[in-house]
Amino acid sequence: MKVLFTGIQPTGLLHIGNYFGAVRNWVSLQHQYRTYISVVDLHAITIQYEPREMPGAVQEMVLQLAACGIDPEKTLLFVQSEVPGHADLTWTFNTITPLGELERMTQFKDKSAQHRKNVNVGLLDYPVLQAADILIYKGEVVPVGEDQVQHVEFTREVARRFNARYGDTFPECEALLTASPRIMGLDGQAKMSKSKDNTIGLLETREEVWAKLSVAPTDPARVRRSDPGTPEKCNIYSYHKLVTPEPQLSQTVAQGCRTAGIGCIDCKKLFLDNLMKELDPIRERYGQLAARPEKVREALDANAATCRADAGRTILEVKEKMGLARTWKI
Ligand code: TYM
Repeated sequence: MKVLFTGIQPTGLLHIGNYFGAVRNWVSLQHQYRTYISVVDLHAITIQYEPREMPGAVQEMVLQLAACGIDPEKTLLFVQSEVPGHADLTWTFNTITPLGELERMTQFKDKSAQHRKNVNVGLLDYPVLQAADILIYKGEVVPVGEDQVQHVEFTREVARRFNARYGDTFPECEALLTASPRIMGLDGQAKMSKSKDNTIGLLETREEVWAKLSVAPTDPARVRRSDPGTPEKCNIYSYHKLVTPEPQLSQTVAQGCRTAGIGCIDCKKLFLDNLMKELDPIRERYGQLAARPEKVREALDANAATCRADAGRTILEVKEKMGLARTWKI
């Protein structure tokens, strides 16, 4: 079986950008690969955070992933900091990574602009830790949203560089995108992201979603109800594509917009109905899992032990290749 690795930061609530852009895909892929999914707390500490809140944020993320359908008994869902090999391999990769390459990474540039007072070395080194995450399990397939593609390409570079210097060790992994790899935020201006405060949370109720959705911008050409619109210019239409089945999508939504047959409010209500059909069962499952988190916690413990063993084998191989294995004869 090929190896799949992916990760997600424990940032509180999962949003529909994460879900439709990546997580929903993981749910179906987990049966086709040996699947590792990590909640990456070591990445999350590269920006300001509250230590007391971290354990809760990790638990919430794990339970949400399980509620979405990631099965922690089958899939190696685990917490990154519970497997020390990730940080160990990061150090090794640091020694073969040119500084300039890290300074050029888009996410580093964005985040260092966003967190001017805390541009720490970890923020710069973030992609190296991500490469270590993937390569420590010899990951081949990395399902992510578009914003992570540059990091996956960087990982291939790391593998190539290591293999050239120390001998063939790591595979060259590939990013796997969904049909919707970049979901825009409710503002229609930037990708959906917690830091932009433009999200629809996966566990939000119908009323909460509607409060945000009802005021979200649509095609600017539709000022009055009777103005015809262009669905391709409407952010809400891009959301419809995630959940609205045919022929409702092309006939009611797209055609209705073009001919002013339906207004923006009707269109949003239809999206809300279809979205909640997908989110209601997730929220329900989350409630059940959160009432008895011990079961998932037990699976996480077992998964971390498996990951430590798998990671340990790679670390040993790397050490041998780098001349760091204990070979002294006394
Ligand atoms: P993170 O936590 O920001 O996001 C988790 C996953 O959700 C995808 N995503 C989106 N997809 C489409 N549209 C959006 N608006 C959107 N927002 C988020 C992300 O692309 C990602 O797939 N650095 C990573 C975590 C990580 C990782 C790894 C990923 C650490 N190590 C190794 C893959 C392999 C991150 O911060 O993802």
